[in-house]
Amino acid sequence: MMMSGFGNHFATEAVPGALPVGRNSPQRPAFGLYAEQLSGTAFTMARSENRRSWLYRLRPSAPHGAFALALDPAGNRTLPANPNRLRWDPRPLPEKPTSFHDSVMPVLWNGDPEALTGVTVSTYAATQSMGNQAFFSADGEMLIIPEQGRLRLLTEMGVIDLEPLEIALIPRGVRYRVELPDGPVRGYLCENHGAPFRLPDLGPIGSNGLANPRDFESPVAWFEDRDEPFELVQKFGGKLWTTTLPHSPFDVVAWHGNLAPVKYDLRRFNTLGTVSYDHPDPSIFTVLTSPSDTPGRANADFVIFPPRWMVAEDTFRPPWFHRNLMSEAMGLITGAYDAKAGGFSPGGLSLHNMMSAHGPDVASWQAATAADLKPHKIDGTMAFMIESCWPYRVTDWAMARAQPDYDAVWAGFPKARL
Ligand SMILES: [Fe+2]
Repeated sequence: MMMSGFGNHFATEAVPGALPVGRNSPQRPAFGLYAEQLSGTAFTMARSENRRSWLYRLRPSAPHGAFALALDPAGNRTLPANPNRLRWDPRPLPEKPTSFHDSVMPVLWNGDPEALTGVTVSTYAATQSMGNQAFFSADGEMLIIPEQGRLRLLTEMGVIDLEPLEIALIPRGVRYRVELPDGPVRGYLCENHGAPFRLPDLGPIGSNGLANPRDFESPVAWFEDRDEPFELVQKFGGKLWTTTLPHSPFDVVAWHGNLAPVKYDLRRFNTLGTVSYDHPDPSIFTVLTSPSDTPGRANADFVIFPPRWMVAEDTFRPPWFHRNLMSEAMGLITGAYDAKAGGFSPGGLSLHNMMSAHGPDVASWQAATAADLKPHKIDGTMAFMIESCWPYRVTDWAMARAQPDYDAVWAGFPKARL
């Protein structure tokens, strides 16, 4: 059961009568529940930006012991900023049983969670459900992009079933655990340290198009009443911290507000493009955007390259050669990407940092230059990009695993002849 809309004010109760009517924090909430506000933005943000929800739970979140710093071998970030183009093969699934949370490995990062800027792009590759463990990030909201296998996200605010070609967005601070109903999973995570993702403005496109608000779905209230030890892990300041609770933290019986987990089916994206000539800027494929303090320059854009008709006349149809201010982390959920003939497989990742020169490889350039330009459909594909105004840095773990000679894909272009 899901509720429809992005940023809507929802009200939901798993037990009839649990949700207060007419006030947020009554003197005595029903059943002795505890009222707790979860704010995703500063109290004083403009109403259009303000996100918060009220949770009604079996116990307050406050009673817990101290968090201890946890060993996190994936967290090493000692390398300088690197201008090189880099690419990674898909991660192999782990040989020993590994849960979603334990499998998350940061690949690219920028900004600073303590300054509320930047994103961290990670991959996951897991084989077993999380047990009595819950995770939340104080550093940002979590955009989950599955590439292989279904995920069941059990969050404080309800349950989301997620499969490849869908995405989920879990607000900063919301606790969740991940179960694997069908076994092994693999995919990507984008932890957004900046302003929350929202739908982009549409300007001259008008009031419809791209991702439509009604296609975002939030879960109804769900809880479990389990008095047994749970490990609670939080990401704080780029590090993992852990404590143990004597009960499940998933004990929210009712909630209302506009801060909620959402899921979205990328196949519902209303893809727009040229019907005359030239290749529009890929911003036309933006699903969600996290603005920076500079208007028009995103802290992060989540952009997809979905199936679409290509009809442009007298046009080089794949992405052109380019050098951009924005830095691009790119992944592939299924199929092939039209600017690369090989070396970029589903589950793989590439990095084109600020001002790095890139574009089609030689084989893609040759094919597109020689093509007979009839309308044709690019089908069975879904690539995505996390585009950020801050250059990405590469984690130590990821640098040791980059493909050895990505630069070679741009070798062998013939010189123009005057
Ligand atoms: Fe690019």
